[in-house]
Amino acid sequence: MAATWTQVWTPVHEPGGSTEEEEHLRGWVSNTDEAEDVKEQLQVAECITFVGDRKGKGFGNGILHLQNPDGKLIHMPRVRFSDIKDNVVSADSVPFAIVSRYSLRCMYGKDKNQAAKRKNEELAEKAMKEDHPLPRKRKYRRLQGSKKKGCPAMIEMKEVIRFTDYDTNDDSGMSKRAISDHIRADLRNGDKFNFERRIYIRLPSKTDHQSVHTLGKLTGFMNPMHKTVSTKLVDLVGHGVTNLNEMKRHLRAHLHTVLFPDVEKRPSITDTAFYPSDNTIRQRMYAARMQLRIMAEAGEKETHDQFEKRFSTLVIHGFVSLSTSLGIQSGLFEALIKLKDEERTVKEIADTAGLKERYVQEWLGVMVAADIVDINPETEKYSLPPHRIPFFQPGSSVSDLGVLLTELPTFGGLYKKLLDCLKKDGPQGLSYSEYTDFHAMMSNLSGRWVLHHLVQDFIPSMPQIEEQMKSGIRILDLGCGRGLASLVFAENYPNSTVVGLDFSEEAINYGKERAKEKGLTNVEFVCEDAACIPDDWNNTIDYIYTFDVIHDLAHADKVLLALNRILKPDGVFSMIDTDCKTKHSENASNALCSLMYTVSLFHCLPISLFFEGSVGLGTCWGREKATELLKDAGFRVDSITKPVGTDEAHYMCTKKVK
Ligand SMILES: C[S@@+](CC[C@H](N)C(=O)[O-])C[C@H]1O[C@@H](n2cnc3c(N)ncnc32)[C@H](O)[C@@H]1O
Repeated sequence: MAATWTQVWTPVHEPGGSTEEEEHLRGWVSNTDEAEDVKEQLQVAECITFVGDRKGKGFGNGILHLQNPDGKLIHMPRVRFSDIKDNVVSADSVPFAIVSRYSLRCMYGKDKNQAAKRKNEELAEKAMKEDHPLPRKRKYRRLQGSKKKGCPAMIEMKEVIRFTDYDTNDDSGMSKRAISDHIRADLRNGDKFNFERRIYIRLPSKTDHQSVHTLGKLTGFMNPMHKTVSTKLVDLVGHGVTNLNEMKRHLRAHLHTVLFPDVEKRPSITDTAFYPSDNTIRQRMYAARMQLRIMAEAGEKETHDQFEKRFSTLVIHGFVSLSTSLGIQSGLFEALIKLKDEERTVKEIADTAGLKERYVQEWLGVMVAADIVDINPETEKYSLPPHRIPFFQPGSSVSDLGVLLTELPTFGGLYKKLLDCLKKDGPQGLSYSEYTDFHAMMSNLSGRWVLHHLVQDFIPSMPQIEEQMKSGIRILDLGCGRGLASLVFAENYPNSTVVGLDFSEEAINYGKERAKEKGLTNVEFVCEDAACIPDDWNNTIDYIYTFDVIHDLAHADKVLLALNRILKPDGVFSMIDTDCKTKHSENASNALCSLMYTVSLFHCLPISLFFEGSVGLGTCWGREKATELLKDAGFRVDSITKPVGTDEAHYMCTKKVK
């Protein structure tokens, strides 16, 4: 079938013959309107847009722009007999001059920021390699996201004047040189001569685009939502995201950090499979809510067999999790990552990790059976596919699950002590000191979000606070642990002063050391019980930040009162804490909650109940209880949102006006 634009232009037939596709790709028209028409037809046919790249002076004005108002030539064009350089103009026997040109690039064309983007990525990678990396915001160039992919496809147009009085095939025997001299003399003398104006056009072939991106419908204008996106959407609805804009932010963050961390490989923003429209998202959210309700109802009618299946999966996953944790802590995943996704023998993997081959063999057995490590049945060699790597990479920007999993053996080690706590006459709780390397683990766990989101999108989501931080305010990071967030605040907002407070001496000393190493003078680390903040701090803090702290506090009610006391009247308190409902019945069938309750049972609850008079909130104190305590302490909860990149909730609070 002929291409639609061939009805607008005159196709070019090469003397040597051209292929059918070539004929559809080269032709000429007599004016710019027709040239515009050809471009439009191509755009519609291929669902792609072309944008102007270089436009020669006076394009479309023919010979006029070479002349002054009296018709005198001000620029002598070169007389040609062929267009050797890029073969846009077809050569026949008529000599011609190219008077102007215009080229347009595919919308996925050259990315002018490519070098800067590469540099940003290198900086991020370097920061991740540091022991306790901090984003150095000032070194990064802020770049707008773009859909450019470096597609080489271009439309080339050349405006040509054909000197029709001359013909190189005639019998006069005039040489090309002589013809050229004649024409130039005519032009110079302003003699009248016949000429014809044409705009030659060469269009890109489909393969020009397709080495880089897809064409037609596949560019995504009408694509249905991709399965990974809709799964995430359902998941987020299950976690209580009900607001459209919040959902859009989460989906975009998931796309950019989990599905396509590599900017080059990201789909086009016109691809509705990955960037669905507001209406589609709204409809899917509604459907997901209905689906969840139906599933909850169906759960009540579960059969014996169904439960057996579910229970066996649950038990199996428990065991596999323990082996997976062993793989993380023993360095086996690190070895697999180091060996890239190429297939390796047990010996190669064991040697790289520096471990005994026989044990490694057994571990690989678990991983293969659980579909975490792949095996080639012909060679019996193992590999970790690239899409699984980020989940096991130290300092991963994608997931906290690997870090969380390392807590499993710690919990196992405390099993007997916890059993005693459960007994009526047993101890009240467990001391922090029972949890080996807790602060290191916690810093890694919250570190992913702190390093990739705190100053990148969380603080900017509160523009007023961000402005104040830039100008200089006093920030308190309460329960700061090893102080990563305090250091990030201090480094990114040098005009502000930051106080990191925690009652763990070990954690506070770690923070102090890092601040010294970084040469930061605007951060101070204080080792103090949050319930004993002195009175001279009253009304001195502009912004209070807590991450995963309040539910752990034995005397959360008293601490919240103290926070209200030290916050300035127009100050803001960002309480980032676990997100669930207070009532068990409202957390039913929520997988994430089942994990959080386990963390609570083995850690948050016993460390809180360890102290005399503890309120023992536990990890899953829930939105309702949290709001109640905040209000009782004199706060107004202005909003509860889910920050991008975490499952936690952000309670943004201000002081109630008395
Ligand atoms: C779950 S950790 C969170 C640490 C840190 N915010 C982070 O994101 O990594 C809770 C922190 O609260 C601290 N903490 C608990 N009770 C405290 C209290 N009464 N006074 C000061 N700090 C306390 C613990 O030492 C621990 O570092």
